[in-house]
This record gives sequence, structure tokens and C-alpha cells, in this order.
Amino acid sequence: MRVVLGVGGGIAAYKAALLLRLFTEAGHSVTAVPTEAALSFVGKATWEALSGKPVRTDVFEAVETVNHVRLGHEADLVVVAPATADLLARAAGGHADDLLTNTLLMAHCPVLLAPAMHTEMWRHPATQANVALLRERGVHVLDPAVGRLTGADSGPGRLPEPEEIFSAALALVGGPSADDAGHLPGGPGTGRPSDSLAGRRVVVSAGGTREPLDPVRFLGNRSSGKQGAALARAALAAGADVTLVAAHMDVPPPEGARVVSVGSALELREAMLAEAPGADVLVMAAAVADFRPSEQQASKIKKRDDAADPIITLVRNPDVLVELVQRRNAAQPGQLIVGFAAETGDDASSAFDYGMAKLARKGCELLVLNEVGADAAGSERVFGQDSNAVLILARDGGEPEHAAGSKDEVAAAVVRRITRELAARATQ
Ligand code: CTP
Repeated sequence: MRVVLGVGGGIAAYKAALLLRLFTEAGHSVTAVPTEAALSFVGKATWEALSGKPVRTDVFEAVETVNHVRLGHEADLVVVAPATADLLARAAGGHADDLLTNTLLMAHCPVLLAPAMHTEMWRHPATQANVALLRERGVHVLDPAVGRLTGADSGPGRLPEPEEIFSAALALVGGPSADDAGHLPGGPGTGRPSDSLAGRRVVVSAGGTREPLDPVRFLGNRSSGKQGAALARAALAAGADVTLVAAHMDVPPPEGARVVSVGSALELREAMLAEAPGADVLVMAAAVADFRPSEQQASKIKKRDDAADPIITLVRNPDVLVELVQRRNAAQPGQLIVGFAAETGDDASSAFDYGMAKLARKGCELLVLNEVGADAAGSERVFGQDSNAVLILARDGGEPEHAAGSKDEVAAAVVRRITRELAARATQ
């Protein structure tokens, strides 16, 4: 396929050279289009030698080839790494002041932007608004990785590793399913983020289980189901066939999802075990009660003056996530399983370390970690609220990824990560 690799003017430009190699070694034809500023970091000679093609930054070079129109028009995929704050602003604003921005305006193929910048720049409302606008228009913008930045500081802003960008790019164009000639299923709109889970079956559990005490009473929890509903919505938007196993939810399920309603943890277990076979992805976003009353009374428990107040004895519920992992391992090794966890740090360990330990214990591939209790209102921030902040932890040791914003934005980040994991498996 024909790839345009745009390179912005940031220190991470050196990683784009490795990305270029990944594309050429996989047999793709790459045209590097650095910005003028990018050449201050990595010179023209490197891009020309690695791509085997002349490199231009300006629309007034090689005018006879009408480069500013042709490159974007002919590309099967445009990847920009690193996308600096300035480049994101110019792309969002529709500028056409150099060859790369002209190419972005002309492209009707999938476009992937991999931002890298200082944490403050990434978090600045101007950058966030530009990213939101670009995503709204169907441009795929990766979240930057969290980690060491150029200086001694660290935080979100690192360019994701070249392999990760490469997998995300292939996922956008339908993975390795290009035809024998290397051409991709084409046409405007194909392979965009909205298609990245096309043909995949995703099962999401959501909401809070209710453990019955008698016909009118239950033990419940405060999960609203908003994050689970957002995940189902994001998976639908990515083209997946979605089943929502819904325990008690305060919000309606998204249109387009097949809904299996459940009450208790045992019912949720039964539904998940029934839905799991054949699913490509299982997401356990439900707040499953760890305990249930040991007995469920057939008739309403009465208060009586002539008898002692009842004592409720609890028994452990099965861990549905662990059971899904165990069954998957035997029956369907390719299935991707995602768990959720809410953790607080204490004197012994950080929430991150507890999250990593839980990830290992549960055996799933990804764990979406909510760090609750970071302040006095921490847990209030998660349950029932419209926004969320999470770390996506990966069992294979990939970089933890920070995602924050509305529950829809967090869900979109989780679905993007799922898409990348599936793509990486497809190329292994
Ligand atoms: N989960 C599950 N079955 C249960 C309890 C939890 O499948 N009986 C799933 C949740 O849906 C979530 C993950 O396990 O994806 C994390 O749940 P959590 O309650 O935080 O973990 P526990 O194993 O209960 O650990 P602890 O309460 O000790 O922190």
C-alpha cells in the first residue's frame, strides 16, 4: 500500500525513522513528508535513504508533479508521527501552509495522528479541542503514551512506540487483509476508526448486580452502568457486533446492542458463560458483587417483636472474570479479555501496583484501572459521574496508557487499545 508518513517537528521524530522501517520492511511504499521543523531534528538524507524516495517539505518543490494534490490523493494511509501541538492545530484549522498540511487536506484514506509533546501542551484546552475536532471528523488520533519525556519529567506526552503506531495503522486499514497485490479495500471512508472492529463480536457486561435477600430486598452497589454503556457504544461505533449483559443500570443501553438483562452475580455469570463462546472480545465492566446472602427467603422477611432481628450471612460469589479467562484458555486462546478494577493506594503499595497484581491474578490481557480515593471525593468521582480517569494496564508489559475525560472518551480510548491489541495479534 502507499503510505504517507508525515513527521512533525519534535524530538520524537527519530522514532518515526524506525516506524518508516517497519512499513518498508512489511513491503509498503512510504513517502516521508517532514515539516520544515522536523528537519531540524532528523535531516532529509535519513528520510530519503530509508524511504528510497525524494523528500520535500514545501509545495513549491517539484511543482511539475503536483505533489501537494497527488500525495494525499493517492495515499492508502496517512500516518503522522510525531504530531506536535502546532501540527494538530494546523490540521484542525484546515491550514495548507506546507506539503504535509496540503496532503492532510487532500487525503480521503484513513489518517492516523500520533501526538507527542510536553504534558502541559497535551492537556492544554486548545490542544484537547483540536484533538476532539479531528476525531469528530473521523481522523484517528492516538493518545500519547505516559512516561519519561525529553527532560527529567514524565507524564502523558510520549510518542507511542513505533510498533504500537504500526499496529494501530494496520488496524485502521483492516489489518493484513489487503489483497495479494498489496492494495487495500478502498474507497473513501473505509478502514476509518469507525470500521476498526467490523466483523468482531464484543460482549460487554455493565451495571451493578443485585443479590436478593427476599422477593423485595436485595444487596446492591452504586454502579450506574454509564461506563459499560459507553464501552458498548464505542464498540458499536467501531463497527462491532455488540452484546450488552446488563445488570442494574441507571442509563438506557445504547441503540444497536443486543441486550441480555440479568439481576444477580450468578445470573450474570450464566449469561457471560453463554455469550463468551465465539466472541472476539469480552469486557467485564460490571460491578459484580463479591458476596451474596447465603439464603434467599421465598417470602418477605417480616420484622417481629417476638423474635431476634435477622442476621444476614454472606457467601462468596464466583469470580466471573477469572472463570472466563480459564474457559477461554482451553477453548479459544485468541479471545481478548478486559477487566476493570477500582483501587486505592495505601502505605504498603500504590494503586498502580495493586492494579498490576490484580491483572496478573485475573489473567486477562487488559485491566482498566480506576484510581479511587485519590482525594476525599475520589470514589464519588467514579460512581454515577459522567467523567472518568483511568490507566489501561496490559499484561504483556506494554506501556500503561492514561485516558481521561467523559466516559465516552475513556470508552473510545479502551476500544482503540482493544483494536490495537487485536491487530497486534493478527500480525504475530
Ligand atoms: N469481577 C467478576 N466477578 C466477581 C467480582 C469481580 O467478574 N465476582 C470482575 C469485575 O467485573 C472487574 C474485575 O473483576 O472486571 C475486578 O473486580 P474487583 O471487585 O475490583 O476485584 P476483586 O477480585 O474482587 O478484588 P478485591 O475486591 O479484592 O480488590
